[in-house]
Parts: sequence; structure tokens; C-alpha cells
Amino acid sequence: MSANLPRIAILGAGSMGGAILAGLVDSGLAADGVAVTNRTAAKAAAIDLPGVDSLALETHREANSTALEGARVVIVGVKPAMVPELLEEIADFLEDDAIVVSVAAGVTIATMEGLVANPVVRTMPNTPSLVRRGVTGLAAGSRVSSEQLALVRAVFETVGAVVEIAEDRIDALGTISGSGPAYVFFLIEQLTGTALRLGFSEAEARLLVEQTFRGASELLAAGDVPPAELRRRVTSPNGTTMRAIAVMEEADLGGMFDRATAAALARSREMAAGG
Ligand SMILES: NC(=O)c1ccc[n+]([C@@H]2O[C@H](COP(=O)([O-])OP(=O)(O)OC[C@H]3O[C@@H](n4cnc5c(N)ncnc54)[C@H](OP(=O)(O)O)[C@@H]3O)[C@@H](O)[C@H]2O)c1
Repeated sequence: MSANLPRIAILGAGSMGGAILAGLVDSGLAADGVAVTNRTAAKAAAIDLPGVDSLALETHREANSTALEGARVVIVGVKPAMVPELLEEIADFLEDDAIVVSVAAGVTIATMEGLVANPVVRTMPNTPSLVRRGVTGLAAGSRVSSEQLALVRAVFETVGAVVEIAEDRIDALGTISGSGPAYVFFLIEQLTGTALRLGFSEAEARLLVEQTFRGASELLAAGDVPPAELRRRVTSPNGTTMRAIAVMEEADLGGMFDRATAAALARSREMAAGG
């Protein structure tokens, strides 16, 4: 895939669409520019990035169809319940060679293909895309050629890693990497609470915990050493860490993650059923 990407539209640039936008612009590869839309003028005005045309529906009723002009990749970044209405609205304004890419949890390829004639790709990105450390699952629709899928892959690779999977795996992927940043932040919050209860100041607790998460992640990223081995290196036989890990094992941390992701998966099935 050539380095430069064609023009991209992002319809709905909130948390997720905005994260993709920021990473994409930062990559410098969106050479033909990006058009983004939001409902409110305040939100549109807050997006001030080089090469980005930011439009608001509030002040420009045709913002979505205007954003589609010349766009070969159209990322739909609105809330899942709003996706069908948005696709109906834009169906007749898409360029013939545009690929429609949804980031919405629970909106199926069949639903999207029923609303637009263009090829569609369903994705599940995550918010570290903002700092180009995202991971995105891609599931190709029935009309997508391998070249079109490669183009969508190239767009998401500007903001992190990409995994191509079958659509029936995308909800499961969402419970790991889509929701995953929230799990990590929750773990950080919990360990920070413990540090505070141990008598550290707020600033000390934050520094100790946040630097530890960052340092451990970077240590993992720096080499090919699996996490179990890195953990072993911190865990001297019969030492202090070993006692702490034993408490976590007793609390069945792994089982808790199984239950948490099962709950998330059940919710995505409810959402797909319109709940
Ligand atoms: N957040 C995540 O971590 C995450 C991860 C993976 C996937 N997703 C998916 O990303 C999608 C968006 O979630 P989010 O958390 O980013 O929500 P969000 O922050 O509310 O973003 C949605 C954006 O869409 C805009 N919008 C609403 N209606 C619009 C329309 N008709 N045309 C153009 N723009 C419109 C909103 O603008 P205004 O605010 O101005 O109304 C808002 O900025 C969802 O489908 C979700 O499943 C999110």
C-alpha cells in the first residue's frame, strides 16, 4: 500500500472517531485531507488540525453529504443506535468507489449492506488510536475486494496495529481490546486507591502506579519476553511479590476477566438485538 492515503471522511468524531482522526493526522499520511462532521458547532470548532475540514450539522445541514465529496474511505463514528439513520442519509451521496467503514459496536455487516450499495467494513478500534497505539479488528463485508480491505487496513495501521477477523469474532474482540483500555484504567484507579490507603500522597500514589503501568508495558514492548516470564523475574521464590500474586490467584483474577468479558459480550448481543 502506498504511503499516502486517499481522502477520508469521518462522520461523527467524538471519543473514537476523534481518536482515529488525531492519530491519522499525526501520522502525516492523510495527504488528501480528512473531512469530519459532528452535530454541534462547538465540537466542530474544537477540531483544528492541519488538513482537516471540520463541519457541524448545526450550522451546515448538508455537512455529512459535503464531507463525502471525494472521500474514498468513509468512517462512521456515531453511536450504534444512530448508524442506520446516518447510512440512510448518506447512501445516495457516497462516491462510487467509497468504502463505508463502521466502528460501531453491535451494528452488523448485513444491516449496513442493507442500507448502502457500497462495500462495507466493520471494525472495532480502541481509543489508544489517539496516540497511535491502538489495535483495530477488521471484518470485511461481502462486497469488499482485497485491495479495498488493504486500503482500510492501511488507514487503521496509521493509528496502531490491525487484526483481520471474521465478523462473528468481532464482538469477542471488542470485549478484549475495544473495552480493554477501560479495564486497564480501572486497574490503575484501584491500585492508586490502595497506594493512598497505604499513606502515600495523591501525587505520590499517581506517580508510583502510573509509572509502574507505563514502565511494565514498555518493558513488555521492548523485547520478546512473554509476560509470565517478566512476572517471574519480579517474583523471587518465597518473596513479597509471590505473596501478593497468591492473593490475586486466590481471588481468581482470570475468572473475573472471563466473567467481565462474558458480561460485555452479552451486552453487545442485546445491543445487536436493538436493546
Ligand atoms: N469510545 C470507545 O472506546 C469506542 C471503542 C470502539 C468503538 N466505539 C464506537 O464508536 C462509536 C462512537 O462512540 P464514541 O464513544 O466515540 O461516542 P461519542 O463520543 O458520543 O461520539 C459520537 C460523535 O458523533 C457525533 N454525531 C452524532 N450524530 C451525528 C450525525 N448525524 N452526523 C455526524 N456526527 C454525529 C457526535 O457529535 P455531537 O457530540 O456534536 O452531538 C459525537 O461527536 C460507537 O458506535 C461505538 O460503538 C467506541
